Amino acid sequence: MRRYLLAVVVMLATAVAWILVLPEAPVAQPIPFNHAKHAPVGCQVCHAGVAEGARAGIPQGDLCIKCHATAPLRGVSEAAWTEVASGHRIAWRQLTQIPDHVRFSHRRHTVAGQLACASCHGDMTARTLPPGRVPVRLTMNTCLACHQREGASEDCAGCHR
Ligand code: HEC
Ligand code: HEC
Ligand code: HEC
Ligand code: HEC
Ligand code: HEC
Repeated sequence: MRRYLLAVVVMLATAVAWILVLPEAPVAQPIPFNHAKHAPVGCQVCHAGVAEGARAGIPQGDLCIKCHATAPLRGVSEAAWTEVASGHRIAWRQLTQIPDHVRFSHRRHTVAGQLACASCHGDMTARTLPPGRVPVRLTMNTCLACHQREGASEDCAGCHR
């Protein structure tokens, strides 16, 4: 009986260790969107929310078809593009995220603070494929380090609801 229990415990411990060590699979996006090719367009054309409020927003097909009336040369099939053009939702997955108990506004940072996108997200214009993992993980320390540098508020209640 003891031996049997020990074997079970060892197996469970191995399974847990395996799961902890295993790298997370990269997140796949529905279309291999190429930021480098779109760099001349300007971030705000597609992420209009940055100047208006909290969320930057990720564009849907109605915006894409203003430039791509027909399927782009690479990355999307004609059939898939017909769906996009007819209003089928593109299921983009947002990787950069902060928890609900934290207050954050893009407008505050890009308009009032005059900060470049790259200061928080790294150089998106260099990416030829969607990032498979969070491009830059924004932790409380990342926020605080810059607030200290820039003389912005370090008050808990400023960032936490
Ligand atoms: C033509 C439209 C377009 C332009 C222009 C554009 N983006 Fe994007 N952006 C997207 C789409 C579509 C996604 C979702 C797919 C992806 O992650 O690549 C996205 C995703 C992102 C993300 C989120 C990544 C995550 O964490 O999930 C960031 C950050 C971003 N863009 C920053 C920028 C910056 C900075 C610029 C300007 C240098 C820019 N984008 C220009 C369309 C655009
Ligand atoms: C303001 C115009 C504009 C908008 C809006 C736009 N694109 Fe593009 N797109 C371009 C240009 C310019 C190219 C480069 C064409 C080339 O190099 O052949 C391009 C290229 C592409 C390519 C081919 C990329 C490659 O690696 O060659 C894909 C896929 C694409 N766009 C998808 C999208 C999607 C999805 C959206 C909406 C989220 C979008 N585009 C919005 C202008 C635009
Ligand atoms: C001070 C840091 C900071 C700056 C500067 C910044 N962002 Fe963000 N961005 C964030 C944070 C934090 C999130 C996650 C927000 C959330 O979870 O609601 C985010 C999320 C995003 C997303 C995901 C979609 C969404 O609706 O939020 C996109 C796209 C994005 N940012 C684009 C941009 C662009 C483009 C610029 C420059 C015009 C920019 N960001 C400037 C911190 C920043
Ligand atoms: C690269 C620098 C930088 C980073 C990183 C940064 N901030 Fe800021 N933040 C600023 C600056 C500068 C201001 C002041 C803007 C102004 O002039 O109103 C500010 C202002 C704010 C305010 C308004 C504070 C108040 O009460 O007046 C909040 C809330 C905030 N940031 C939250 C965050 C959060 C949450 C993060 C991390 C996810 C973050 N910031 C990351 C530079 C930064
Ligand atoms: C500039 C913005 C900012 C300020 C100021 C700030 N925080 Fe945070 N805090 C964050 C962000 C963003 C997160 C979520 C990301 C993370 O966990 O690192 C967070 C996470 C936390 C968490 C972890 C909650 C969890 O889900 O585990 C605690 C606890 C916390 N903050 C307490 C504080 C206290 C106490 C203060 C004041 C001394 C403070 N924070 C000031 C931005 C801020």
